[in-house]
Amino acid sequence: MQLTNANTAGHIVVLASGSGSNLQTLLDVSSDEWAVVGVVSDRPGSGALERAARANVPTRTVRWRDYPDREAFTEGICARIAEFDPGLIVLAGFMRVLGPAAVRRWPNRIVNVHPSLLPAFPGAHAVRDALDHGVKVTGVTIHFVDEQLDHGPIIRQEAVDVLPDDNEDSLHRRIQTVEHRLLPEVVASLVGGEYDVSGRIVKGRVTA
Ligand code: GRF
Repeated sequence: MQLTNANTAGHIVVLASGSGSNLQTLLDVSSDEWAVVGVVSDRPGSGALERAARANVPTRTVRWRDYPDREAFTEGICARIAEFDPGLIVLAGFMRVLGPAAVRRWPNRIVNVHPSLLPAFPGAHAVRDALDHGVKVTGVTIHFVDEQLDHGPIIRQEAVDVLPDDNEDSLHRRIQTVEHRLLPEVVASLVGGEYDVSGRIVKGRVTA
């Protein structure tokens, strides 16, 4: 499968709400084949926007409260994303749920990084929920975004052990170490077109 046309396949647009440590890994390893061309955030002043500015990557801010509902917010954010002519859109700690219009516009071209082994512990508190549940293993999932929350076809997963003395911060730190290694690898493989999606099943080098 190829991402859009050859000229824009390497255009990575990152959506982020938080500190942007995952974004930073993409800013650090951009290659001849791909680069972060734009960052969109719903949070003015977020770490992600500061990291983008330091890397001279253009940014846009789309605030939830400026729109009457999810549909209008999604329309607003899609318009900003489209300005960057994206090949791939990466949700890296983006804490808003996009409406179906975004997924229909860019099917299998929006990727999310989630801090659990989905389908376990979807939602905004995956690390805390895993700890509260008493699981001994959790991890990282990178998946395509579909119309349900934290649900689309799984691209890569890696397990992280839960240690007896873990709290939410310590476990999240180890999970993020894995995220930071996996995300640039997955982006490089997707840009290289080394995968195939059939229903929920993703196959190719990207899944290894
Ligand atoms: C990551 O742990 C990601 O899994 C979750 O939000 C966190 C974002 O962290 N969706 P950062 O902003 O990339 O540092």
